[in-house]
Amino acid sequence: MFAVYAARPEADDPLAALTVGERPDPDVPAGSLAVTVRAASLNMHDLWTLRGVGIKPEQFPMILGCDGAGVLPDGSEVVLHSVVTSPGWMGDETLDPKRSLLTERLQGTFADTVVVPERNVLPKPESLSFAEAACMGTAWLTAYRMLFVKSGLRPGQTMLVQGASGGVSTALVLLGRAAGMRVWVTGRSAQKRELACSLGAHAVFESGARLPGRVDGVFETVGKATWDH
Ligand SMILES: NC(=O)c1ccc[n+]([C@@H]2O[C@H](COP(=O)([O-])OP(=O)(O)OC[C@H]3O[C@@H](n4cnc5c(N)ncnc54)[C@H](OP(=O)(O)O)[C@@H]3O)[C@@H](O)[C@H]2O)c1
Repeated sequence: MFAVYAARPEADDPLAALTVGERPDPDVPAGSLAVTVRAASLNMHDLWTLRGVGIKPEQFPMILGCDGAGVLPDGSEVVLHSVVTSPGWMGDETLDPKRSLLTERLQGTFADTVVVPERNVLPKPESLSFAEAACMGTAWLTAYRMLFVKSGLRPGQTMLVQGASGGVSTALVLLGRAAGMRVWVTGRSAQKRELACSLGAHAVFESGARLPGRVDGVFETVGKATWDH
């Protein structure tokens, strides 16, 4: 089948490992489903895979793509949940110490077909296109959980999102605005701050800039560069 994959780990020149070509049709073990992929989305994680981070050398070649949406053999339209648990795990997938994302142990979604455990296949809401559904996985679920499960923020409160253009931070801006938060964003360039505005940020600031007031919650996905802010 057609696939886009990392042929080998390339720590210093990750795109040198990016290969567009053919991979064998996958087997479908009991308890798994084959999904014909209609849309897949790119995640920063794919670049880490090309670099060989978070994946053992013997697992290459690895088809890229943590997230996707597609069609089951019976024609039903589905979206994938990309956190794969160890066999028999019950409850919250993210608490399983042996969990993995697609592309870490199982092959990813940048292919004609992806094979995943049955519990990772969910009905695609009719209101979402395949492309939209394919973006709802890793980054958006992370943002959703930060905002609606962990933060405790209520509509009308002010949230600061560090980073204007990141996968998680753009999802935070869109979700926060839709939920009625006042959304403030820091970004490193005017172009990136404009992007945040176009997504619904109420105000944007240069990274590290003094803010006009206190915020109710800080959404930090950058790391050390913004910890002092
Ligand atoms: N993507 C996911 O699905 C996912 C899921 C779970 C956890 N995570 C974790 O969340 C973190 C972010 O992931 P991501 O995929 O969103 O990364 P990303 O798309 O590369 O975004 C990184 C963000 O960090 C900002 N940034 C980077 N260096 C900076 C610096 N020196 N000063 C100020 N801002 C800086 C960027 O700001 P600008 O916009 O200004 O460039 C950008 O908004 C990572 O630790 C990742 O492991 C990601």
